[in-house]
Amino acid sequence: MKIYLDNAATTFPKPPKVYTSMMNYMMNIGSNPGRGASSTSLAGNRVILNCRYTLMDFFHFDKVENVIFTPNVTTSLNTLIKSCVKEGWHVITSSMDHNATLRPLGSLHAKGIIDLDIISCSKKGLISVDDFINILKPNTKLVVLSHASNIIGSIQPLESIGKICKQKGIYFIIDVAQTAGILPIDFYKLNCNALAFTGHKSLLGPQGTGGFLIDDKLNKICSSFIEGGTGSLSSSIVQPTFLPDKFESGTLNAPGIAGLLAGINYINDQGIDSIRENEEFLCNHFIEGLLNIPSINVYGDTFASTRTATISINSTKIDNSELGFILDNEYGIITRTGLHCAPLAHKSIGTYPSGTLRFGIGPFNDIKEINYTLNSLNSIIGKV
Ligand SMILES: Cc1ncc(COP(=O)(O)O)c(C=O)c1O
Repeated sequence: MKIYLDNAATTFPKPPKVYTSMMNYMMNIGSNPGRGASSTSLAGNRVILNCRYTLMDFFHFDKVENVIFTPNVTTSLNTLIKSCVKEGWHVITSSMDHNATLRPLGSLHAKGIIDLDIISCSKKGLISVDDFINILKPNTKLVVLSHASNIIGSIQPLESIGKICKQKGIYFIIDVAQTAGILPIDFYKLNCNALAFTGHKSLLGPQGTGGFLIDDKLNKICSSFIEGGTGSLSSSIVQPTFLPDKFESGTLNAPGIAGLLAGINYINDQGIDSIRENEEFLCNHFIEGLLNIPSINVYGDTFASTRTATISINSTKIDNSELGFILDNEYGIITRTGLHCAPLAHKSIGTYPSGTLRFGIGPFNDIKEINYTLNSLNSIIGKV
């Protein structure tokens, strides 16, 4: 039996109802939702709509048709960014952001469409609000930031940044891949125009699910991105302009969405605060233990209350990829090593280009697993 500590990449295992809901969809419903009016297609519609409402409530949002499904947050961010950006815009992101944000913005910049500033974050992975204010320009029109780092769990001061964006009429898109399902998220408190989420991380759904919530203000300036069959206005060769169809072309991952719905229902049943409390407890215990192991450096904040339970380390005695290999193959502990698709974050925390060994604690980890991991690290480091 493996100990799974790669929950920042994708959560595993999922709550049992995630598996059974997906199986139920495939075995007992089957039809394509939104395509035709058969009883099973309508049953599929109900699953999709139920998940849309559940996501709307989960993020304290209020427009169900503005909840859009995509295959993952990468698609959500590409759709949002590429469908709203206009030539000559100045756009801001940060060094802690994921390639899912950096690459679409980077390619728009390389084509000369936008002017791009990437704010350098501190060694603890945080954006300074003063740096943010200083970098603003008269033509700053868009800010895209992740809520928390996928490497060291640093949580950005997004409420303050959102307030500034709102005052200045700057569109604000947030990537909540690392916080949805861990921290309570209120769309309006964050003062954003869109939240992009992925289903397979802490929302506990399967891979191939994700989406975004978009307000009417941002939607108004967005064109459609992927165009095609929506099951609506089929006589027209022009993409519908109403939501969610404007952004939902092609068959949805209905079994996946059934699983995602079960994942969010599980979080609601357990209570997000109790999930967070458990992860905070394990995170504090783990960091305390790591700090007592000679040669190990822990990056980012050492208090669980100001970060998520995604923890990066290096040892001065052994390369992180070798350490990850030994943990997996000799001790059965699954982690992830390297740059984690966020190269600039490693420049900020001083671990570029070799990266870090990352532990992602999830809702199904327990103290025994954390102690076993600490003992295993002690044993490996003691031998080298
Ligand atoms: C902050 C952040 N953004 C984006 C992504 C991309 O997620 P996905 O592969 O589900 O699109 C990840 C996943 O690693 C992430 O941690």
